[in-house]
Amino acid sequence: MERTLILFKPDAVQRGITGKILTRFEEKGLKVVGMKLMKISPDLAATHYSAHKGKPFYDGLVRFMTSSPVVALALEGIGAITICRKMMGATFGSDAEPGTIRGDFGVSRSFNLIHGSDSPEAAERELGLFFPEGLVDYELDGFRWTYDPVEELGQG
Ligand code: RTP
Ligand code: MG
Repeated sequence: MERTLILFKPDAVQRGITGKILTRFEEKGLKVVGMKLMKISPDLAATHYSAHKGKPFYDGLVRFMTSSPVVALALEGIGAITICRKMMGATFGSDAEPGTIRGDFGVSRSFNLIHGSDSPEAAERELGLFFPEGLVDYELDGFRWTYDPVEELGQG
C-alpha cells in the first residue's frame, strides 16, 4: 500500500467542487486516511514548494496557495501516487485531457485545482508537513471488493 498527499487548492474550495473531486478518488477505490480543511501559512507553502523557489511563478504560487483555505487529503492504495497523478491530468487545465480532474474542471495555468505528490519521497515528506499529527488507521471494508484479497492484499 502506498500513501499520497492531495491538496484541493483554494480555487477548488471557492468554486465548491471539492465534493465532486473527492468522489472521483473514492469511486476509484482509494482509501481516505486523512482529510481536513486548513489555511496554509506562508512558511508551510514555502517549505512545500521549496523545489520551485526562484522560479518565475514561485511568488504567485505561494500567494495563491495561502489566499484561501485548502482541503488536505491523505489517500491510500496500491500505486496511489501514480494513480492520483494520472487522475489529476497535466499541470495546466488548458493542456489536461478530458476525463482528468484538471481537464474537466479548469482552463487556467495558475489555478489548477489540485496538488498531488509526485514520488514516494515527496509523499512521505509532504504527508509529514500537512499531517504532523499522523493519519487515521482503520479497516476499509470496501477494500475486500476493491482488490483481489489473495493476489493483491496477501490474505488467505
Ligand atoms: P503540483 O505540484 O501543484 O501538484 O503541480 P504539478 O506537479 O503538476 O506541477 P509543478 O511543476 O510541481 O508546479 C507546481 C505548481 O506551480 C504552478 N506552476 N506555474 N506558470 C508556470 O509556468 C507554472 N508552472 C508551474 C502550478 O500551479 C503548479 O501546479
Ligand atoms: Mg509538483
